[in-house]
Amino acid sequence: METLAIACDHGGYDLKEAIKERFADRLSFVDVGTNSRDSVDYPEFGQKLAQSIINGEAERGIVICGTGIGISIAANRYKEIRAANCTDVTMARLTRQHNNANVLALGARLIGLEVAFDIVETFLNTEYEGGRHDRRVEKLS
Ligand code: RB5
Repeated sequence: METLAIACDHGGYDLKEAIKERFADRLSFVDVGTNSRDSVDYPEFGQKLAQSIINGEAERGIVICGTGIGISIAANRYKEIRAANCTDVTMARLTRQHNNANVLALGARLIGLEVAFDIVETFLNTEYEGGRHDRRVEKLS
């Protein structure tokens, strides 16, 4: 069973819990918070998620805030992280195939629950294509 790191701010809390429940039969989660709807600062949780991957607690992760933007910016400040904010399954497929994204960012206030589940499914099940993309991905770090 794959272990996935997961983090959110207050805007992403409900979606984080829904994803954990939906994928509980296939994934285990390292949940680095936040753990309520109380207002918090998304940079702290983007940093916690990045650290959990850098520390080897999980190879991949999901970050969620209201838009997916702030928390993905925070996670992407670490060279080990390639976080992609996806609003549809095509973005999720292409960022796995071309960017070897290791973190999926979601905007809980922008997408519906079923769309979010489909994006997670696609992110999990799409392989990196390598080849011509290796040189470009290496230049990201
Ligand atoms: C919090 O209100 C909101 O700013 C945050 O969830 C996120 O959308 C920031 O990018």
